[in-house]
Amino acid sequence: MGKIKGQRDSDHVLPMDGHRIKALVLHPNVRANVRAGQSSAGSRRTTGAGKEVHDRTPQRYLEEVCGLARAINLQIVESEIVSLKRRLPATLFGKGKVKELGDRQKARDIQLVIVNTTLTPIQQRNLERAWSTKVLDRTGLILEIFGARARTKEGRLQVDLAHLTYQRSRLVRSWTHLERQRGGVGFMGGPGETQIEADRRVLLQKISRLQRDLNAVKRTRQLHRKARQKVPYPVIALVGYTNAGKSTLFNQLTKAGVSAQDLLFVTLDPTMRKCHLPSGSKVILSDTVGFIADLPTELVAAFRATLEEVLEADVIVHVRDISDPDSAAQKQDVLHVLKQIGITEEDRRPVIELLNKIDLMPEDERLRLQTSMNRQNGNGPGIEQTPFDTEPDAIQLTVSALTGDGLDAFLAALDDILARQKSLRRIDLDAIDGAALAWLHQHGDIVTTRENSDGTIHVVVRLTEKEIGQFEKRFNTQAKPH
Ligand code: GTP
Repeated sequence: MGKIKGQRDSDHVLPMDGHRIKALVLHPNVRANVRAGQSSAGSRRTTGAGKEVHDRTPQRYLEEVCGLARAINLQIVESEIVSLKRRLPATLFGKGKVKELGDRQKARDIQLVIVNTTLTPIQQRNLERAWSTKVLDRTGLILEIFGARARTKEGRLQVDLAHLTYQRSRLVRSWTHLERQRGGVGFMGGPGETQIEADRRVLLQKISRLQRDLNAVKRTRQLHRKARQKVPYPVIALVGYTNAGKSTLFNQLTKAGVSAQDLLFVTLDPTMRKCHLPSGSKVILSDTVGFIADLPTELVAAFRATLEEVLEADVIVHVRDISDPDSAAQKQDVLHVLKQIGITEEDRRPVIELLNKIDLMPEDERLRLQTSMNRQNGNGPGIEQTPFDTEPDAIQLTVSALTGDGLDAFLAALDDILARQKSLRRIDLDAIDGAALAWLHQHGDIVTTRENSDGTIHVVVRLTEKEIGQFEKRFNTQAKPH
């Protein structure tokens, strides 16, 4: 078949004219080869920290992939869990199943089939041929979503790059996608080797051009970041599974107009805004892209830069949808992806786990949860620096980003963490050095000031390591430990 109606000239299949593509969504469930996260009955697995968590059932996997499909406005005509004894190399599904699914697609005029697994290029090509429809696997689907959601130039470049890299991996044995883009003859036979070579050359050229553009954009971003570092506000990164409520929380706290919809992946590029804590100190909140289970490796590399703010953050806030039955499994997925991007067990930085959407919990469950959290948190939000990956050490708080419930306690906890990260310093200033004193008033918590006998001013102040560095550099004056 030719291009799907409304398809852009780029590599995406999304409709741009409001036309909704009819889709069939399949979740292959391999019974004989039960692997973590794909078990047939929703079994348990053990995390790195030795804690058991419940895996998703195939039904939940199917619901999740349907959610992803709806995020790009596909019309899901049918969805199904397909049980398999094993994955067939040629078509994944058995011959009879391929035929049955093909007949159903024709009957219901389905234009796109989503298969919630990683397909080999051969499997994808064979299924596309057998069904005469476009087939997207999980990586392909996520790429479509990222493509639809990318807002900044960097985000768009990253998506394009990931897409081309994905295509290049398919090009070795599959040519249909590219050929269709050129409006070719479809499924009637492949172009010769020369055509594949030519395609590959074009792709490589595109890839290196994109990489150049991306590097240029990244350089400007680094300049921005440098500029921001001169404003020494601690950075608080909101991370969490897609749809956990990060953007809603971000909006509540910053009153910014970042879109929050009941769609997955609303946020692709990190958005940063200033926010005031109860103590009056300022922080920068960073909203990040939502995580998902089994993030394809190609995407981890491509989106690492999108998550750079997380690597640099002073505090990580893990927002969880506690009303979701898969909350525990989602948490493990987030921790896993964070590890992939470089937040490791050795990384000791404060983490707050926000159990969001508490308004959706029945009263008795909410109380039970809050009681167990109080026990776990000891004397309220007294926060130690915690290894991120070792649960359940992160401080936990219940909130509702929607109603605002619990947000005051959350901000107070942030204040508490940041205050603990500050250390007491003593500084002697010339009496005429008004600028340095003003700077300390603005950035630090001044404990005492007194005049020395020689007329200099002695200041005792609480500062973070970052602020100490900035002060010493800027005013060429030592801030000595108290
Ligand atoms: P991604 O951008 O996909 O990563 O999602 P996100 O984590 O930013 O989630 P978002 O803020 O877009 O919220 C997803 C949906 O959950 C929206 O429909 C919100 O209105 C809803 N939501 C967020 N927080 C709450 C909450 O505390 N209670 C309830 N009832 N709904 C909430």
